[in-house]
Amino acid sequence: NELRLWGGRFTGASDPLMDLYNASLPYDKKMYEADLEGTRVYTQGLEKIGLLTKEELSEIHRGLDIIKEEWAANLFVEKPGDEDIHTANERRLGEIIGRHIAGKVHTGRSRNDQVATDMRIYVRENLIKMSEILKNFIETIIKRGENEIDVLMPGYTHLQRAQPIRWSHWLSMYATYFTEDYKRLQQIIERVNKSPLGAGALAGHPYGIDREFLAQGLGFNEVIGNSLTAVSDRDFVVETMFWSSLFMNHISRFSEDLIIYSTGEFNFVQLADAYSTGSSLMPQKKNPDSLELLRGKSGRVFGCLAGFMMSIKSIPSTYNKDMQEDKEPLFDCLTTVEHSILIATGVISTLKINKLRMESSLTMDMLATDLADYLVRKGVPFRETHHISGECVRKAEELGLSGIDQLSLADFHTIDPRFSDDVKAVFNFEASVERRTATGGTARQAVLKQLNRLKAEF
Ligand code: ARG
Repeated sequence: NELRLWGGRFTGASDPLMDLYNASLPYDKKMYEADLEGTRVYTQGLEKIGLLTKEELSEIHRGLDIIKEEWAANLFVEKPGDEDIHTANERRLGEIIGRHIAGKVHTGRSRNDQVATDMRIYVRENLIKMSEILKNFIETIIKRGENEIDVLMPGYTHLQRAQPIRWSHWLSMYATYFTEDYKRLQQIIERVNKSPLGAGALAGHPYGIDREFLAQGLGFNEVIGNSLTAVSDRDFVVETMFWSSLFMNHISRFSEDLIIYSTGEFNFVQLADAYSTGSSLMPQKKNPDSLELLRGKSGRVFGCLAGFMMSIKSIPSTYNKDMQEDKEPLFDCLTTVEHSILIATGVISTLKINKLRMESSLTMDMLATDLADYLVRKGVPFRETHHISGECVRKAEELGLSGIDQLSLADFHTIDPRFSDDVKAVFNFEASVERRTATGGTARQAVLKQLNRLKAEF
């Protein structure tokens, strides 16, 4: 019990399995930098209120720097009794600068405010990094959208051919989703970036530490205003995992579209070798494993969120050890999302599109709405023109024609006398997309405007 920082009131030994079960060091050592930084600023706060001398403070900071180098060089030696990153660092500090001074570092602090501080720093740094790679991903999509503005393809609802759209319109749809994700992420970073430090175990700081000073020193934008909340709250973990889940939901749909478009039946796109794998049995196969993993890993991220929500749903207020279960799902989630963005960026920047195939997949039935619109422009109510256009589709089928564009003017007149020779102009895919000029539509200028609007967000 000498080894344990809380060992004073204990006489019995602990079950070795309990030690393993209790320990978080194997995974929370990822936060070593945040933990050392928290202690660096916390001890400045202690010096400011006269609980450490200037000399003690500089000794402590010297020790913290050494520990940081040890972790970075993979030279930190973990010892039995190192329960978590907080106890490990404090134990090591004692070895380096002596336990007399190191023993003052934790004055007024608890691992409860300490861990909440470390986590918020760690999450903040990771989300800022995430923002950067997400931005790069979005810019990659936007650039493709601009470069390939001329390419038309079928747009789908219910996975049935619906209306012609621009390929760039499809790209712009996902760029729009991901830009909303980016903006949502900035809001979450704001909420993560609040300081619990100086809350103590739960009741507050007994020596009147300057919490605003601590917050400033650690780059937080405000202090959490209630000490009980400061140690209780893991909403920032939940929000981060919810953000990740929603983002992965978008990534999953993006991947699903591309998986479908890459099948032999569609053959709209071809994945680069770098993001595909082969079959151990069938020599001809090239499988879109990158996209399938992006789709599959979304489930894993939702699981992290759901699992942790269940862990915390009924815990009483302030700190309970259940909360240690925040780390593994959170870390897994952050790594999975970060890797997913990088892979998705690679996929979309190396993807080949098959313009001819996309455009030859457009069929005249996809202009049935345009045919109805043609009569609307001649003053016929849409409900009526919808019906008339439907009759034209049926008529072409009855006559065994390849499409509605093959109907003669005489055929059209058997259905409605208001058709005239200019109806031929309807049967042009480019003209169809170019009619959709209203904001958000698939006309060239409308798509370029969408892309420009997105660019203005960064
Ligand atoms: N390893 C712990 C965690 O991650 C640190 C906080 C421990 N606090 C305590 N009162 N036992 O939650």
